[in-house]
Amino acid sequence: MQIGIFENAEQAGQKAAEMIAQVVGDNPQAILGVATGSTPDPLYAQLRSWHKDGKLDLSACQAYALDEYVGIAVDHPERYRNVLLKNLVWENATGLKAENLHTLDGNSTDLAQAAQSYDSEIQALGGVDIQILGIGSDGHIAFNEPGGSLTSRTHIEVLTEQTRKDNARFFNDDIDQVPTHCLTQGMGTIMSAKAIVLLATGAGKAQAVKQLCEGAVSAFWPATILQMHNNVTVLVDEAAASKLELKEYYCERWSKL
Ligand code: GLP
Repeated sequence: MQIGIFENAEQAGQKAAEMIAQVVGDNPQAILGVATGSTPDPLYAQLRSWHKDGKLDLSACQAYALDEYVGIAVDHPERYRNVLLKNLVWENATGLKAENLHTLDGNSTDLAQAAQSYDSEIQALGGVDIQILGIGSDGHIAFNEPGGSLTSRTHIEVLTEQTRKDNARFFNDDIDQVPTHCLTQGMGTIMSAKAIVLLATGAGKAQAVKQLCEGAVSAFWPATILQMHNNVTVLVDEAAASKLELKEYYCERWSKL
């Protein structure tokens, strides 16, 4: 696990964007794993800006989303498909085509089947080329909440109250409007990515980042399983890095790599 500590969220996002641009530069048909939440916003803004300037084009890429709320209205702005369309597709944002943005169907009449077929697609690809991740304040990745299997595949999940509280800001600050269930790639699915870039910014993520990088591998902090992946880069700002015990060493190692 490489850990890069940046002055602010914009710089961390910029580094993540550079890593994506490198993968797409090497392979214009790259398969990207894309995350929602507010943390990747600076990253997506950078990708859009490079596309506008003709420096980056995702038109031959495929993208796979991590998760989706169950039962959310198709036109709800917080439906993750809509969030990703807005960030990466609409108005020729990055060149990514709507038909190449793959998302889970949280309104399927057979959710288990929707989860399974989505997982099989990713499995058939041998995992995505580069997976962008955020992290929940309770250490969840995608929507893999504490206490779940660390080798799970795409499945239905029940959201914790903490996650629903955290996400209420996207639902008029009303926790009752936040769906209770979701479909999510499993930790095993996410671990099949060839490279993983996790972004975490803000003091609210400091404890989760501490566990992710320095805690024991445990289902209580699902993100800790990433310690078992051989190509993970964690990009954090100073606030999210504030609880790291070996912070100075990580900075030294990052500067000498
Ligand atoms: C949501 C998403 C996760 C995201 C997390 C953090 O629950 N399902 O993929 O990483 O929240 O969100 P934010 O980046 O807004 O803090």
